[in-house]
Formats: sequence, structure tokens, C-alpha cells
Amino acid sequence: MGVPFWGRGYTTEAGAAVLGYGFSSLSLHRIFARHVVRNPASGRVMQKLGMTQEGCQRQHIRKGERFEDIVNYGMLHQEWEAATSRRAGVAPSASA
Ligand SMILES: CC(C)(COP(=O)(O)OP(=O)(O)OC[C@H]1O[C@@H](n2cnc3c(N)ncnc32)[C@H](O)[C@@H]1OP(=O)(O)O)[C@@H](O)C(=O)NCCC(=O)NCCS
Repeated sequence: MGVPFWGRGYTTEAGAAVLGYGFSSLSLHRIFARHVVRNPASGRVMQKLGMTQEGCQRQHIRKGERFEDIVNYGMLHQEWEAATSRRAGVAPSASA
């Protein structure tokens, strides 16, 4: 994302579209994402998308000479469906 366009909600909007495609069109059960600890804005996007933080993997990846801590987020199909129903103001279906 180009620097002049940070903080305008574009990545959250794009992420919501990806979740919608994955859960609705592909009928996925679970979608996960992760970010390096020193990129907290990425974590904030995942929080705004309604994803749940599932833990930290210490020094899990190596970038150049540096080992980086990774934070994992996940969302289940039923969580996405419930959040989508809440936003639309309808009760979630009994099968969720
Ligand atoms: C992470 C990134 C892609 C997000 O894109 P974006 O379009 O700006 O995201 P959004 O506008 O949808 O949301 C960003 C949120 O992060 C928050 N944020 C920004 N900097 C933050 C920081 N240092 N710590 C915590 N939250 C932060 C914003 O305030 C916003 O949350 P809010 O709506 O509650 O205020 C973009 O900021 C970016 O490229 N950052 C620098 C590089 C980077 O971290 N890249 C990821 C590589 S893994």
C-alpha cells in the first residue's frame, strides 16, 4: 500500500472482500493470517476484520540477518457469518 494512502481503510476494505470471497464463494471453514510484531498496523487491520488473535510464534521467520516474532490471527466460517448477520441486522441462521 503506497504511503500516501495509509490509514484510509483501503486494506481493511480489501481484507473484508477476501474474507467474503473465501467464506461465501469458496465455502472455506477457516481463514488465517499473520504479521510480524514490528508491523502493528497489519495486526490492527486483522482486528478490525473481526479476526481472533491466536498466539505468537517467537522468532519464527528470518528476514535477512534478523529473526522476527509472528502474530497469528484466524477466523472461522461461523464467526464471519455471525458478524455479517450482525452488520446486516439479521439473526444468524440456526445452521451456523
Ligand atoms: C499495514 C498496512 C498495509 C495497512 O494498510 P491501510 O490501508 O493503511 O489499513 P487501514 O487504513 O485499513 O487500517 C489501518 C489501521 O492500523 C492503524 N495503525 C496504523 N499504524 C499503527 C501502529 N503503529 N500501531 C497500531 N495501529 C496502527 C490505523 O490507525 C488503522 O486503524 P483504525 O482504523 O482503528 O484507526 C499499511 O499501513 C502499511 O503498508 N504499513 C507499513 C508496512 C507494513 O506494515 N506492511 C505489512 C508488511 S507484513
